[in-house]
Amino acid sequence: MTLWGGVFQHPTDDAVRRLNDSLPFDWRLYDVDITASQAWAGALHRAAILTSEEHQAIVQGLERVRRLFASGQFVPAPGDEDIHTAVERWLTEAIGPVAGKLHTGRSRNDQVATDLRLWVMQATPALLDHIRDLQRALLAQAAGHVHSVMPGLTHFQPAQPITAAHWLLSTVAMLERDWDRLGQAAAAAASQCPLGSGALAGTPYPIDRTALAVALGFQQASSNSLDAVSDRDFVADFLHAAALLMTHLSRLAEDLIIYSNPRFGFVTLDDRYSTGSSLMPQKRNPDPLELARGKTGRIIGHLAGLLTTLKGLPSGYNKDLQEDKEPLFDAYDTLMLLLPVLTALIASMTLHPERMRAALDEAMLATDLADYLVARGVPFRHAHHLTGQVVRRAEALGVKLSALPLADYQAIALQFGPDVYDVFDFDQAVARRRPVGGAAPETVSAQINQWQARLGQS
Ligand code: ARG
Repeated sequence: MTLWGGVFQHPTDDAVRRLNDSLPFDWRLYDVDITASQAWAGALHRAAILTSEEHQAIVQGLERVRRLFASGQFVPAPGDEDIHTAVERWLTEAIGPVAGKLHTGRSRNDQVATDLRLWVMQATPALLDHIRDLQRALLAQAAGHVHSVMPGLTHFQPAQPITAAHWLLSTVAMLERDWDRLGQAAAAAASQCPLGSGALAGTPYPIDRTALAVALGFQQASSNSLDAVSDRDFVADFLHAAALLMTHLSRLAEDLIIYSNPRFGFVTLDDRYSTGSSLMPQKRNPDPLELARGKTGRIIGHLAGLLTTLKGLPSGYNKDLQEDKEPLFDAYDTLMLLLPVLTALIASMTLHPERMRAALDEAMLATDLADYLVARGVPFRHAHHLTGQVVRRAEALGVKLSALPLADYQAIALQFGPDVYDVFDFDQAVARRRPVGGAAPETVSAQINQWQARLGQS
């Protein structure tokens, strides 16, 4: 007998049942479902709907089914449509008809909305910890490369020298925003408790919904039952935070894929974090990084998929909402698997400052050459133009900027003096970027100290 079979004369078609059932993926809500049901039983007891004995029997029965799930011993029955019906079916078999009182005044609609919020609240802290671990691994690498000057790129073209530490800390900064955003998504889940909204109109029993909400760790009871049963904004918030986190991981992966290419050779990945080719013996492939990049599309798809599911729904609960769980769980599982791999990959990789330095090109100091003229009173726009002429002249002669004779410099601008050759010092160019946020070693070191104070060392 299903939990809703009274009005039906014929059993559900088998294929419809397979389409309809969510137990294959929502079983993992068992823990929060049981916690919410125990709290609901408590609320019914306080409202004098359950006697103390009935309350006790239900709470203890639920605790037993929790242990069955936790030990992997729960055996689903054919009619177990979803986690909510499965738990109640088992409870009925275990403690008898009194189990039937648990569902008084509630619906699976307010139940699942509550469960999913509790799941996000419970699951997010582990993800936040993984982000912190990755930040610490990046920070530890950065601390060793404050003076490792490397080419900085814009439009993927050589632009200006930076340091490896500055590059690594750019991802630490991105991850800090992700950490905040995911924390906010968990706070959104905790902001209101739908339990006691019933199917859509509220519950007719004198339930203290505020006490119930607070007992379950929520800020307050939801203010509108019709909204509360179909509000999945917190799932969209979570998926947005996850998609943006993945986007940042994908960009980090892309940098590392390029920098570990032998043409660059800035980075070598540890053998444990790259894989070989079955055909080409020389290959070291950055598969984990490619998967970070590749899986990003899938997680962005989950966000787009959920919003598409939500946008056409009429008011109240609709079964479409059952589609909220798989994207949420998959985004979570993907990140829980990926983040520790990336952390270990970063911690174990070797940076090669000599290869970074060898890739520097004096043309990256053209801006500094313009700044040299600015220091001698030339307006920047004009200095930019004159420096462009210097670069063109050097290209025409096929020489580096530092090998261009002074006469050629002075033919372009008389402000160029013999000290112009001092400009061609990559370390000095980086050291001049001293104001906060810049790549100068002293600035980056101060930044590292601040991150260490915030994150702790790995
Ligand atoms: N399995 C359902 C879901 O995930 C639970 C709610 C079902 N509600 C209903 N009225 N059929 O959305």
